[in-house]
Amino acid sequence: MRVIELRSDNAAGVAPEILTAVQAANTGSALAYGGDELTARLHEVVREVFEHPTVRVFPVTSGTAANSLSISAATPPWGAVLCHPSAHIITSEGGATSLFGGGAVMQGVDGDHALIDPSRLRSTLESVRWGDPHESQPSVLSLTVPSDVGTLYRKEQIAELSAIAHEHGLRVHLDGARLANGVAALGCAPADATWRAGVDVVSLGATKNGALSAEAIVVFDETIADELVYRTKRSGHVTSKMRFQSAQVTAYLTDGLWLRLAAHANRRMAELTAGLRGLEAPGVRLLERVDVNMAFVELPAPAADALPEVGILCYRMSPTSVRLVTSWQTTADDVQQAVARFGEAVGAGPA
Ligand SMILES: Cc1ncc(COP(=O)(O)O)c(C=O)c1O
Repeated sequence: MRVIELRSDNAAGVAPEILTAVQAANTGSALAYGGDELTARLHEVVREVFEHPTVRVFPVTSGTAANSLSISAATPPWGAVLCHPSAHIITSEGGATSLFGGGAVMQGVDGDHALIDPSRLRSTLESVRWGDPHESQPSVLSLTVPSDVGTLYRKEQIAELSAIAHEHGLRVHLDGARLANGVAALGCAPADATWRAGVDVVSLGATKNGALSAEAIVVFDETIADELVYRTKRSGHVTSKMRFQSAQVTAYLTDGLWLRLAAHANRRMAELTAGLRGLEAPGVRLLERVDVNMAFVELPAPAADALPEVGILCYRMSPTSVRLVTSWQTTADDVQQAVARFGEAVGAGPA
């Protein structure tokens, strides 16, 4: 039986266009450590795509590196990084931001749908004992777009949260491990969801959406970029053959490839959730809004137990819930099969 891959977009392969770009970069020789023409080209492409004349870009190899390095460049060691309690930086990166941030802490600010509530952000910032060395001093607001449960802020909400943060002297970081899925769903210009909405630095993901261990830190704030020059080197991210990472991110951002791949993944998830709703199986429901390529589904425990048996690969979140993620590689047939097999697992008969 063919398995249907719904564990993570990280499980998907490399998009052919990106492999072709790596192959094309593999001719002749080039200056090492980012002094090559492909890395220069990456800067131009990022400037075009983000409509920002002075934006700087630092290729790195993982989302954790992008987050921890970019945030550490924006916070003093005594700083507090405010983020939603579900944020990857606080739940799933082994404290990398604190390590690179010299001891900076992460502090959760809650809100529904894994999105920070602006009034809670305001009250958190208003209750800080500013200048008191006994308390970590909020220094960065980190927004995850889309969130770790696949929900999205509208660009106006990003702007509102950024404005509150800036009023209190914080920098704004955006964890965009799946930014392409977010921008594709919002249908806005990348600039509108980032610097025009007050974001200072972005962890731009590419690996989940078709690249081969290539991510980039996109920096709109000159002082953060100046720090990153040294921090990327000291953490081993100024790679000697950077041109192969740069080639990937350039191909990714060229001619809208990143948005096409992401829109595909989003569309497949919309089809999948429509199919699951159509099953009308008792005890099956979506636990969260589905804005991009990720869904959380509640289902009876025996049905969840049966999913591997019917060839559906997904993450078990609890005895009665699973996470489903589609990718640039998910086909229409995968979705049809998944719905039918879900129906089998929950005893709803063929879809
Ligand atoms: C929202 C978010 N940010 C950051 C990361 C970290 O990426 P990596 O696993 O490449 O370190 C992930 C990975 O799943 C993620 O989902």
